Amino acid sequence: MNVKPDFTREANQAATAPAFFSVHDIHAYYGESYIVQGVSFNVHEGEILALLGRNGAGKTSTLRTCARLDNPELKKGEIWLDHKPLHLMKAFEASQAGLGLVPEDRRIIPGLTVEENLKLAQIAPPIGWSIERVYELFPRLGERRTQEGTTLSGGEQQMLSIARALCRDLKLLLLDEPYEGLAPVIVDEIEKTLIEIKKLGITTILVEQNAVRALELADRAVILDTGGVVFDGSAAEVLGDEALRAEYLAI
Ligand SMILES: Nc1ncnc2c1ncn2[C@@H]1O[C@H](COP(=O)(O)OP(=O)(O)O)[C@@H](O)[C@H]1O
Ligand SMILES: [Mg+2]
Repeated sequence: MNVKPDFTREANQAATAPAFFSVHDIHAYYGESYIVQGVSFNVHEGEILALLGRNGAGKTSTLRTCARLDNPELKKGEIWLDHKPLHLMKAFEASQAGLGLVPEDRRIIPGLTVEENLKLAQIAPPIGWSIERVYELFPRLGERRTQEGTTLSGGEQQMLSIARALCRDLKLLLLDEPYEGLAPVIVDEIEKTLIEIKKLGITTILVEQNAVRALELADRAVILDTGGVVFDGSAAEVLGDEALRAEYLAI
């Protein structure tokens, strides 16, 4: 079913009664380019939300806006994380409030070992997981702790990037296309990790081109098209709606 009649009402209530994470009518621009055009959605604590849509739909821009990066610039709307107003914050404050963005390019710091990459994530409070706890979840990172981060395989770099977010006191994990360029067996491994992270009560927004994999893992889905929300509902509903998938996801 496309946007439910009561969805707008639910979104409108977000400003007064925020969900765990609530995006309310956000509008964001790259210079003069109006890209995020009134996006609203809620994420419940502990769930995985798949944020989907075709190439250029505005998924990355929406994540960047939520993380309060300078570009695109948020000009209108509210973003609440666990009762904290992210729309009034800068990126470093949003990070301190518990938001962790793992961007598409993974941003492993060249010249640093795996362990140094992790330690750098803990340079300022609030500190999340200990390095040893990270190695329990990601044994491969433990085995490669003295290896330079940029020499890891694509899958291991993705793990390191997620691990760095866990080294902060994380409430909301934003993942931008974590499966991109990875072999199916490695995707299986990352997926298992995301299930473990969910079991720990951490809330996740998963942006993926591999929509079927994302929907099989996610509780709910939001679909974007040209900078706006065209669907908000359960992941199962999207998997079962061939017409919707064909129109907005090309699958
Ligand atoms: N830095 C930028 N400056 C101007 N326009 C941009 C920039 N980055 C992305 N866009 C435009 O914003 C739109 C949404 O892009 P994006 O958020 O990257 O989509 P998605 O992640 O869904 O593929 C696209 O039309 C893209 O060309
Ligand atoms: Mg993108």
